[in-house]
Amino acid sequence: MLPDRYAEDRYAQDQYAGDCDFIDTALPADRQEELSGRGFNRRQIGRIAMMLGGGAAMASFGRPALAQQSGPAVVGALRIASNECWTGPFSEGVAAAAMMASQGNRYEPDNNHAKLAAAVAEVEGLPEDRILAWPGSSDPLNRVVVTFCSPERGLVTANPSYEQAWRTSEWLGVPLSRVPLTADHRHDVRAMLAANPRAGLYYVCSPNNPTGTVTPIEDIVWLAQNKPKDAVLVVDEAYIHFSGTPSAAALAASRDDVIVLRTISKLFGMAGMRLGLTFAHPALYERMMRYDGEQVTFMVPMTAIACGTASLPLAAKIAARRDQMIAVREETLDHMKKRGIATIGSQANMFMADWGALGTPADMQQKFLDQGVQIGRSWDAWPTMSRITIGSAEDMQTFRLALDRILMG
Ligand SMILES: Cc1ncc(COP(=O)(O)O)c(C=O)c1O
Repeated sequence: MLPDRYAEDRYAQDQYAGDCDFIDTALPADRQEELSGRGFNRRQIGRIAMMLGGGAAMASFGRPALAQQSGPAVVGALRIASNECWTGPFSEGVAAAAMMASQGNRYEPDNNHAKLAAAVAEVEGLPEDRILAWPGSSDPLNRVVVTFCSPERGLVTANPSYEQAWRTSEWLGVPLSRVPLTADHRHDVRAMLAANPRAGLYYVCSPNNPTGTVTPIEDIVWLAQNKPKDAVLVVDEAYIHFSGTPSAAALAASRDDVIVLRTISKLFGMAGMRLGLTFAHPALYERMMRYDGEQVTFMVPMTAIACGTASLPLAAKIAARRDQMIAVREETLDHMKKRGIATIGSQANMFMADWGALGTPADMQQKFLDQGVQIGRSWDAWPTMSRITIGSAEDMQTFRLALDRILMG
């Protein structure tokens, strides 16, 4: 369920979503028929129309229904709350974006989508027709639920995990199964399949947000091979550049039922520039795009495309940024251990801290804020823990000092 503070918005959205004129304007009749054929009712179709085609309509209600951040940034505080990178894009990316800004009079100065696809194809070893750019990966995350789920074909995710797809499923009335992680914090792929053997979509986030833990590629392959053939497996690799672990990209290249999601918001320091990628069979794209054409992919800012094209091939710089983060993360985890605070080992730029008797996550968030540090939120599955993002070496020294002050009371 959406938090109660959204109740008023939800009511207003429902009134709008049930409005016949709005649905008929936003979605052609054959697309409405396709959705109702899969069991969506009129109100659910209205919500889908709002979500995919109605960005402006959503905005008119004041708040996004599907917030991706940990909460509003606190001005002046050190921000280690939303898994952002501690620094901006690589210098090559910044230079390419600046050059592109000077050609901002053109919608697409020089075949730039194709150049990005060619750069990604080279780095990932994928055919170009399997690569699509998005303004971040949040849109495709919503869209896969609309496309591959229905009131009859549910969504299966891990718990705790990144909630966007599950929030979308709840909002659209799609059955949701949330399956606890294994004791060593992998996705329990066999339990995920058992939880709903006829789901429309299985969502694996690896490295997982909020735990930073990796699900072995063998488990992901097992799920691809054992799920129903007409269900889709989405592997969200938002943090894979931080872990450097094997990708599921080869599955998306060889199969027609696996989608890999990559945000470029994280290691590449481009969260505000908005660039995401998907790797999938073109037939899956056709299904995902049938409601609103390919319009959304042309909403990617050209500056982001230029920055991404210049940044993604920089293997040595990517590895150096990863190593820098790992050193700072391990130093921080070591400090927490010395202070007797339990943490979960991570392979990404975040970790979970268990505050035990020190205070609830909300208390601890306030205590850190009093020290000028904004830490992340908690997940309902693990109510005594908070997620903390790894910042720069200096940021994490500030975090450690703040922790020590809190511990000294
Ligand atoms: C696992 C995961 N997937 C997707 C996203 C969406 O990122 P964006 O919309 O910036 O591409 C996030 C953002 O935090 C994330 O953590």
